[in-house]
Amino acid sequence: MGILQHTRTLTSRRKASIMKRLMVIAKIPTRLRKGDLALRPLRIWDGPFLARMMSQEDILRSCGTEGRPGTSWFALYRRLRSFFFLSYCIEYASEKVGLAGLYNLQPDKSAEMSLVISKASCRRIGLGTKVFRLLADGLEGAPFLERVVVSVRTDNVAAQSFWTKLGFHEVRCLRDTRQMTLPLRKCAAASADRFPGGKP
Ligand SMILES: CC(C)(COP(=O)(O)OP(=O)(O)OC[C@H]1O[C@@H](n2cnc3c(N)ncnc32)[C@H](O)[C@@H]1OP(=O)(O)O)[C@@H](O)C(=O)NCCC(=O)NCCS
Repeated sequence: MGILQHTRTLTSRRKASIMKRLMVIAKIPTRLRKGDLALRPLRIWDGPFLARMMSQEDILRSCGTEGRPGTSWFALYRRLRSFFFLSYCIEYASEKVGLAGLYNLQPDKSAEMSLVISKASCRRIGLGTKVFRLLADGLEGAPFLERVVVSVRTDNVAAQSFWTKLGFHEVRCLRDTRQMTLPLRKCAAASADRFPGGKP
């Protein structure tokens, strides 16, 4: 294949991938709410909150290298916005308590998810579970998206236990990272069990 044709193929693949992402985003609600819990798009004024969140030791460890001391909140905000094709600030009782996002949409109709509850007092009260369920309900019916994947460090016992309880199972373990997955139809089935007769 000539270099020109190769470049054209790459460009059309890139275009197709951008189009798919746009079509997924178009089908997912920009805001999700259930009671005191709200997921809304990340905005620039969330920058200082995100910087505080990414300086927490456990979150830094779970996310790898996204936030490093010395990175300005603006740079961090921009990096997160370009990293995720869909990102939400998690608010609970009108207070910012975390971040959820999707990245790495793949041709096999999977996308990776990150979910962080940064406020210590909001952990282990079922909030992460509610966020996941709300987001999974929002993802239902999105084109090119049938499976959610999470990458969890092998030393992150809390996250492994969290995703396992949600029904995720391991697909592969690469050095210090465990990849786990769940088909979205299974989330829909769980929703139907929770809301017999249709979603509220
Ligand atoms: C992982 C995380 C999102 C869990 O959120 P959460 O709101 O505390 O989770 P929930 O309260 O919904 O917990 C649901 C289940 O997950 C498991 N779990 C959650 N935290 C746990 C912990 N510290 N230790 C062991 N199991 C834990 C438990 O099985 C729990 O059910 P139980 O309370 O009935 O035993 C949160 O701890 C977090 O943000 N951690 C830092 C960032 C991170 O690691 N994110 C995941 C990266 S892939």
